[in-house]
Amino acid sequence: MANRGGFSSRIGFIMAAAGSAVGLGNIWKFPYEVGENGGAVFLLVYLICTVVICFPIMIGEIAIGRKAQKDAYGSYKSLGGRRWGLLGLFGILCGVMILSFYNVVAGWAFGYFLEISFGDLLNTADFKLFFGEYVGMIWDNLFFSVCFMIITAFIVVKGVSGGIERASKILMPMLFAILVGLIIYSLTLDNAMEGIKFYLLPDFSKLNLETIYSALGQAFFSLSLGMGALITYGSYIDKKQNIITSAAMISVMDVSVAFLAGLLIFPLVFSQGQAPTEGPGLVFVALPGVFNSMGPIIGKVVGGGFFLLLCFAALTSTISLLEVPVAYLVDTKKLPRKAVVWLLATLIFVVGLPSMLSQGAVDMFSSMSFYGGKSFLDFVSEVFSDISLPLGGCLMSIFIAYRWKTQSLSEEISSGNENYKGSFLEKVINLVIMYIAPILLGLIFINTVFSKFFGIEII
Ligand code: PFF
Repeated sequence: MANRGGFSSRIGFIMAAAGSAVGLGNIWKFPYEVGENGGAVFLLVYLICTVVICFPIMIGEIAIGRKAQKDAYGSYKSLGGRRWGLLGLFGILCGVMILSFYNVVAGWAFGYFLEISFGDLLNTADFKLFFGEYVGMIWDNLFFSVCFMIITAFIVVKGVSGGIERASKILMPMLFAILVGLIIYSLTLDNAMEGIKFYLLPDFSKLNLETIYSALGQAFFSLSLGMGALITYGSYIDKKQNIITSAAMISVMDVSVAFLAGLLIFPLVFSQGQAPTEGPGLVFVALPGVFNSMGPIIGKVVGGGFFLLLCFAALTSTISLLEVPVAYLVDTKKLPRKAVVWLLATLIFVVGLPSMLSQGAVDMFSSMSFYGGKSFLDFVSEVFSDISLPLGGCLMSIFIAYRWKTQSLSEEISSGNENYKGSFLEKVINLVIMYIAPILLGLIFINTVFSKFFGIEII
């Protein structure tokens, strides 16, 4: 392992994996998904998906990576043979596509940080209008997302412990602190309680299949599962680490940040009389309003600080997204790390251009007739994240259950956790991996494909 690099400590791995998990998915995507999918009931389904399905899958991914000590493709191939390697490649493709649009949204956050701190965004009369125009501005977006990709690449070039681990250990705790501070402030605003009710009191009449697969897709995306990111990170840890407790800590941190983001956003949305169904603009519209209400100087400091941390959260995720294909080319193809990083960063940036132009700049990408008038960014996000990640999780469970075998999984988990074998938890995890995950995720996948692409509801 020494020549591949590795995390230098247990906490370093946990922070890096939690850094991968915590990102735009928690602070940008989660609140608007909650808003669009009926509020508290979405939160509930999301939590159930996380505990029942995603937690065992996370353990499985980390175990596969640590056993094989290779990238996503190499791991599946060495444990399951050449054909299973394809599953690793599929994950790598998803990582590339997700990073292509993720970097665009990270660019918006970066732009907002600069516009709030050094420009006069907070004096804008209509934040919704501003956001709509902002995402359609080609040159600004191009500039900010180029910057973001370059910073990501710089850190990934530095390798696992020097770059990824060090950045995550500092940034994660800071993000937590600023979120809590802002929540306390937001709860003091008029009408804040309306937001809390929307967020925490479930209305079961809003529960439908769309809620379930959106929540599932969100849980996979948020925990960075289903595409081999945690196989890759798992390959950098040693045999003494307790995979179960590490996975538990990563999941708890991720869910806490998402939960806190909701606790921050909904009081703000309701106190400003906005609709929670705003979509991807929700955070970018609701937050500047409250920073504005803090007065010119405090607003700039707190607002700038918030968006800066959002950038950091996004950065620890873009790092892990880029690391997945990088590890593949370095491990399997034996190419030099530095060249691979810059090559992939450029390529992925170019692949992301249509997503960037799909927010009003170019009509063809902004409203695609073959995809129900949705944007290219929506298309990539739905296909490679909402649909593909749970599919990746489904196939990974099948891989463990019927190829690698649950005995091998237990063996791997036991290293670093002697009491695992024979425990109740082992039985539950095996049950989920062998039956619940493949069947449930398989059914949801089939249904999602039929309903999204053919308009047929099977279930
Ligand atoms: N989990 C990240 C977020 O919530 O923002 C996104 C992500 C990162 C997805 C890394 C997948 C991944 F491999």
